[in-house]
Amino acid sequence: MTRRPIIAGNWKLNKTVPESIELTEDIKVKLMDYQKEKLPVVVLCPVFTAVQAVSNVLEHGKGIYLGAQNCYWEDNGAYTGEVSVPMLADLCVSYIVIGHSERRQYFSETDEMINKKAKAVLSHGLIPIICCGETLEQREEGITDEFVAGQIRAALKGLSEEEIAKSVIAYEPIWAIGTGKTCDSPEANRVIKMIRDTVAEVSSQDAADKIRILYGGSVKPSTIEEQMGMSDIDGALVGGASLEAESFAQIVKGTMLARTK
Ligand code: 13P
Repeated sequence: MTRRPIIAGNWKLNKTVPESIELTEDIKVKLMDYQKEKLPVVVLCPVFTAVQAVSNVLEHGKGIYLGAQNCYWEDNGAYTGEVSVPMLADLCVSYIVIGHSERRQYFSETDEMINKKAKAVLSHGLIPIICCGETLEQREEGITDEFVAGQIRAALKGLSEEEIAKSVIAYEPIWAIGTGKTCDSPEANRVIKMIRDTVAEVSSQDAADKIRILYGGSVKPSTIEEQMGMSDIDGALVGGASLEAESFAQIVKGTMLARTK
C-alpha cells in the first residue's frame, strides 16, 4: 500500500497577513525547483485572518493545499467567535487540523467536540487532520498506547469506513511539541502502527491501510529523512520549522529523498 506523504505546516498563532503572503510566496518559489511528481502533499495552515490572503497566493490544484487550524461543527448560528467548515471551504481550504493538543489544553476541547468537528469537516468534503498524543506524565506512567488509542476511538466514532480512509491523523506527543526533543523514529513508528491497528479494529483493515498518519513534534530538516524512512509514518505536521521557507522546503525535500531510497 503506497500512501502519498503529507507535509503540513501549522503556523499556530504566528504571522500577520503580509508576513503570511511573503512566507507562502517564498515556499512556492522554493518548491518550484523540486520534481513535481515526487512532491508530497504540502499543506499550509495560517491563522484564520490570513487564510484568504494565502488562498489568493496559492494556485489551487498545483501541489500546495490550504489548511485551517480549527473550525466549529455547526454551519452557522449564534456561536460568537467561531468559524465554520463551509466558510473555510469558501476560501478553498481543503484540510482542517482538529483536536490539536494546544486546543485540548488551553481551550478545553474534549474528545466529543473533536468527534463533532471530524464529522462536520468530512460532511463538507474536506479532510480532517485529527491530532492525538500523550503528555510526559502519561508516557512515564506507561499508559501512552491506551490513552492515544482512546483518543482515536473517540475521534472516529460514527464515521464510515470511507470517511476514515480519507482522514489524516497526526500523532504529536505533547512532550515533543516545541521542545526541540523529537520522539525517536522507531518509537514514533511503533505508536503510529498501534494507531493504525486501532483504526483497523474500529473500522476495517482497508481503512487502516489507507488512512495517513503523520508524526508531529520538533520535526526539523535533520530529522525528517529518518522519520520518513519508517514503515508507518506518512508525513509530518510541522510547527516551528514551518515558519521559515528554507527549513520547511528542506523538510519537503527530505521527504522526497527518503521516498526515493
Ligand atoms: P513543533 O514542530 O514546533 O514542535 O510543533 C509541532 C506541532 O504542534 C505541530 O502541530
